[in-house]
Amino acid sequence: MLKGVILAGGLGTRLHPLTKVTSKHLLPVGNEPMVFHSVKQLTTAGITDILIVTNPQYVGDFVNALGSGKDFGCEFTYRVQEDPKGIAHALALAEGFANNGRIAVLLGDNIFETSIRQAADDFQAQPKGARVLLKQVPDPERYGVAVLNGDDRIVAIDEKPEHPKSNYAVVGVYFYDASVFDVIRTIEPSARGEYEITAVNNAYIHRGELAYSFVQGKWVDAGTFDSLSEAHQILLNASDWC
Ligand code: DAU
Repeated sequence: MLKGVILAGGLGTRLHPLTKVTSKHLLPVGNEPMVFHSVKQLTTAGITDILIVTNPQYVGDFVNALGSGKDFGCEFTYRVQEDPKGIAHALALAEGFANNGRIAVLLGDNIFETSIRQAADDFQAQPKGARVLLKQVPDPERYGVAVLNGDDRIVAIDEKPEHPKSNYAVVGVYFYDASVFDVIRTIEPSARGEYEITAVNNAYIHRGELAYSFVQGKWVDAGTFDSLSEAHQILLNASDWC
């Protein structure tokens, strides 16, 4: 059974002063705190055992907002990332929780118009490896960018490249088999000093084990004022599921 991990640590400095007193992931989007969207994405995909990774400062706010999971029909576990050393560093904290099983990982600031359920089902049908989701965007230099070999497979992912080789952003939803924690142990910090999730995904590419799906509908990384406002519109107009 797939377990879920929501990464909601980091500093959210691009959203100051909104994030001076609480986490970016607890700001209102649509009619709810942002993290509710990630929780509903997972429960809608049938994933009810969910780990939330937060920074030490705001863990109490998350517990107040989410509780045990009873109100969402799921069960939450909480872990604290002491230093925001990158997405892969935050994910490493999920090893005990994953308990040698497969996981779906969501970045807590990614908002989608449609459900990720189909991608989760496709991953479940995969014998091994990992799966990422792609979306065509006008500003790929802000994201991890997938280089595709025709329409067939991803040959590389470049993190925030100055000169993107495609306009396919790798969005913040990742599915991994149990070997992801061994992969994380092999990666080095990037030039900006972070353990990058892109390095993890590139390791799966080298093994020939990275599948992908396309995101249907709108997607936004709500890490800036403009994208936060767009995320708000997406969820206000979205259908019932989210
Ligand atoms: O949104 C998709 C993009 O997310 C991908 O295309 C990129 O490949 C990926 O690196 C990431 O880029 P960002 O620059 O948007 O990542 P950011 O630092 O904003 O972190 C995204 C989320 O991950 C954030 O909401 C909280 C969590 N996080 C981040 C860091 C750096 C943690 O939990 N701990 C961390 O140390």
